[in-house]
Amino acid sequence: MSDETLESVLSEQRIFPVPDSFAGRARISGMEQYREMVRRAEADYEGFWAEQARAELDWETPFSEVLDESRPPFYRWFADGRLNVSYNCLDRHIEAGAGDRPAIRWEGEPGDTRTLTYRELRDEAARLGNALKSYGVAKGDRVVIYMPMVPEAVVAMQACARIGATHSVVFGGFSAEALKDRIEDAEAKVVISADGGIRGGKTIDLKANVDRALGEGCPTVERVVVLQRAENPIDWVAGRDIWLREIMAEESADCPPEPVEAEHPLYILYTSGSTGKPKGVVHSSAGYLLGAIVSMKWVFDIRPEEDVFWCTADVGWVTGHTYIAYGPTAVGATQVMYEGAPTVPQPDRLWAIAERTGTTVFYTAPTAIRALMKQGEEWPAKHDLSALRLLGTVGEPINPEAWMWYYRVIGGERCPIVDTWWQTETVAHMIAPLPGATPLKPGSCTLPLPGIQADVVDEQGDSVPPGSGEGGLLVVRRPWPFMLRTVWGNEQRFIDTYWSYFPDQYLYLSEDQASRDDDGYFWILGRMDDVINVSGHRLGTMEIESALVSHPEVAEAAVVGRPDDVKGTAVYAFVILRAGREGYDLDELRRHLREHVTGEIGSFAKPEEIRFAEGLPKTRSGKIMRRLLRSIACGEEITQDTSTLEDEEVVRQLQGRA
Ligand code: PRX
Repeated sequence: MSDETLESVLSEQRIFPVPDSFAGRARISGMEQYREMVRRAEADYEGFWAEQARAELDWETPFSEVLDESRPPFYRWFADGRLNVSYNCLDRHIEAGAGDRPAIRWEGEPGDTRTLTYRELRDEAARLGNALKSYGVAKGDRVVIYMPMVPEAVVAMQACARIGATHSVVFGGFSAEALKDRIEDAEAKVVISADGGIRGGKTIDLKANVDRALGEGCPTVERVVVLQRAENPIDWVAGRDIWLREIMAEESADCPPEPVEAEHPLYILYTSGSTGKPKGVVHSSAGYLLGAIVSMKWVFDIRPEEDVFWCTADVGWVTGHTYIAYGPTAVGATQVMYEGAPTVPQPDRLWAIAERTGTTVFYTAPTAIRALMKQGEEWPAKHDLSALRLLGTVGEPINPEAWMWYYRVIGGERCPIVDTWWQTETVAHMIAPLPGATPLKPGSCTLPLPGIQADVVDEQGDSVPPGSGEGGLLVVRRPWPFMLRTVWGNEQRFIDTYWSYFPDQYLYLSEDQASRDDDGYFWILGRMDDVINVSGHRLGTMEIESALVSHPEVAEAAVVGRPDDVKGTAVYAFVILRAGREGYDLDELRRHLREHVTGEIGSFAKPEEIRFAEGLPKTRSGKIMRRLLRSIACGEEITQDTSTLEDEEVVRQLQGRA
């Protein structure tokens, strides 16, 4: 991190106290209550989490063991207990008399709407669960879900949870190639998809991508379940493909939830790192769900009978798992779900939906806030947003300017903002304000949740004290119930990535850098690895480089992130052509390479800029000097020492074309 970043975040002085009106009704009210919970968790760590797990989850077989640390870092929680996640998300609310409460209030981009009550959601999950069983999907088998933002995506996830199948949702923006890699790595038996998704007035050909992926590999897949969503013409493979609606009509809604061990893998979710292919992060059943529930209650302060919760993430990312499919349902809340672009047909689409549905708690990404901020205040001003009582953000640091706009224009200076720090690996909030307790500072995710021992450490693993003005590595000192359990099919990679940085100590390495101010508030400074955050999507620069290099004209590529007002980071690629630049129409080639990356990964990964270079700056040992490339991409003055470069001329050439 640069000293400048550190200085600018630590100079933010504004403090927003908890409004009395909010604190008065909050589940956790006042810092004293927060501190008391933290103290309890510190005094009896296992007892604290055991108490939560008994209070918040319905167990088929109660657990007697809490934390099993016998084989670190493969920690196990509540391991001799058994439960079913779908029962906890659906049936228990119906049994408690809330079967007619809306679970999902969905709206599609063309304006179509659908509401599913808890009973309807349970019945659909049960029907699909029965169908999956009839195709031979048994407990522990993998099902890949590649769907648009429709309620059926949640139905599919809940159906898997119901029968103990392990799902892996692949974001609908991923290409056929990326889908194939994930299906093959997970060895899925069934793929659940749709004839298309709708976004920005376009139809996304999901089924065509499934056909392409299966045409090129994926020998384990036996069935493809297809939702008809977009009236999109598709190819049909008889004997393999089946319409979801036919299943709903034919199967019985009687599908008893299958109790599974607490540690049973509920899902695999692929995410990027600095090396290798995306890794399949594996999550447990009981510990996972506990994280989803406590964060819904502590951080979103949710009251299921009154609140209307809306998380704008896609179900293909972790935020859509925890704060659409599992968290809101596990607490029995009503949620809004929207398929489509936030600016279609007009830039007030989100505010119109929030008004119409009476949304009370709204959760989105800083990139979306910045994009909507650019559209002007007149759009939210058209709508009555007075039902909102709490706002949230996730995915990247929020710049104070966007924070203030969100606070003032959307929240009417009345709603606290919970800036939540967490990751695919931590799977639920880790550092975040408790809105009835924590005074806010724009740009800080504030303090760890009770029971989460987050710390900032130096290279040796020693704490960097709050208020020292120094940054360090963000780690978690103790295993927590909802942490990732392993990397699918690759235990060594799990150990190497997260647990090997500090020899002889098991500290979970988040790969983020952070600093703490005098009040102990955390300020996230950015990633320590080569992962970039493009419009809230996590991407490894190496993945994009591999995609570029797989093009026949490309000899070598280096990708860096360049700060962008809206996206947070934009992809900037340096490309060396096999035959040199002469004789090419370079604009044409740029277009072509962007399409190529779209085909290999997805359009969200395509480079904003491509610079054709003669060479890349490398050290004598052959390492690409990325920091130098970043400076060039940003048009900054080069301050790095270039004397260790193999060929200093390369830098002059790159700068000449800056
Ligand atoms: O760098 C941090 C950033 O997003 C990374 C995790 O990305 P992903 O696994 O895709 O999960 C995103 C949704 C949880 C983190 O390592 N990040 C996430 N939330 C914040 C954040 N950076 C700063 N502030 C946040 N609130």
